[in-house]
Amino acid sequence: MPGPGFYWIGEEEKREVLEVIESGHLFRYGSADNPKFLHKTHTFEREFAEYCGVKHALLINSGTSALWISLLAMGLISGDEVIVPAYTFVASYAAIIFAGGVPVLTEIDDSLTIDPEDIERRITPKTRAIMPVHMLGNPCDMDAIMSLARKHELLVLEDACQAAGGSYHGRKLGSIGRAGALSLNVFKTITTGDGGILITGDEDLYERAFALHDQGHAPLRRGMEVGHRTILGMNFRVNELLAAVALAQFRKLDALVATMHAKKRRFKELIADAKGFTFRTLNDPEGECATLCTVIFDDAENAARVSRALNSKTVDQSGWHVYANIEHVNRHLEAIGRPYGKGAYPRSDDLLSRAMTISIGVVDPGLGAGFGVSILSTEEEMRHTAEQFCRACAG
Ligand SMILES: Cc1ncc(COP(=O)(O)O)c(C=O)c1O
Repeated sequence: MPGPGFYWIGEEEKREVLEVIESGHLFRYGSADNPKFLHKTHTFEREFAEYCGVKHALLINSGTSALWISLLAMGLISGDEVIVPAYTFVASYAAIIFAGGVPVLTEIDDSLTIDPEDIERRITPKTRAIMPVHMLGNPCDMDAIMSLARKHELLVLEDACQAAGGSYHGRKLGSIGRAGALSLNVFKTITTGDGGILITGDEDLYERAFALHDQGHAPLRRGMEVGHRTILGMNFRVNELLAAVALAQFRKLDALVATMHAKKRRFKELIADAKGFTFRTLNDPEGECATLCTVIFDDAENAARVSRALNSKTVDQSGWHVYANIEHVNRHLEAIGRPYGKGAYPRSDDLLSRAMTISIGVVDPGLGAGFGVSILSTEEEMRHTAEQFCRACAG
């Protein structure tokens, strides 16, 4: 069960992909003189960077590799500590660990994103970076985070994998820190099935990231030049078919987000009389993606009861999105002598056990959002879903 972009796959995606197939040129590189080379990847990168108000975008094979390569390109070295929330997907931790860093888990606040006050408490002489995660499409408190980063001279890598199209006080999510990573997997705002985007305004970081993602090559090369490179890379390239879908989806992004905002507004009106919960804090209500509607109940028993009645689950049960449930990350934390397992982050445990997420555009039981509406839901379906929710709350 996918995200909103998936539901809107249609003629535009078909047309873009068909153009590439008919051209016969599937590789991301080609010669400017070759009329068969449609440079979809390069076009996407230029247009997406402009949309985000940054100099550079790199289309890459996943959000995970966008995170990993960003950390490597930032110059993270073995033993560097990276501050990251206790509520995020496993990939945020894995990227830090594979880059040689130490994930320093941090409490979330009632926005269900990283708590800036707890960040400050966890800074040590080894801290090198902060990785705020715009969980469930909700922007982190970026003013507070950027001010801490300036004060302590830390790098900021935004994990905006769940937040394409979102913004914070007018700036696109992912564009505020030194770099940002977005995901195009099937559960995200827009999708290519799998895929990712790295964005940055930092020229050096971009050049290193580009090289790392493609065998040390310089950015935007055309053809198969043999150059003198100083960085070894691997291969995380995308091809023109993926870029064709990305372009078509990207052109729908603002309309998708606007539609979800309208649906979420309506859903909240429909459940206005339900009691026993508050909505999670939105650090920028205009800028959130509105992919989901998260409610926080007064107590965990009530949250569990309502979730069960709706055949859903509380957020603390949502698999590899909660530190305590990620068994391999916990094993790693235990091995390096860091706090691990349920109870290590009590404020997050408490909030997540009282939280339930209702889908608006991202229908994903793995995220705890198996109940709700989708971007295609009619007014009648929304009314029905809202009634179910209100009934469950009333007990
Ligand atoms: C917060 C977060 N970070 C990173 C990722 C990794 O993205 P991908 O699946 O494209 O590798 C995801 C994907 O679910 C995510 O939700």
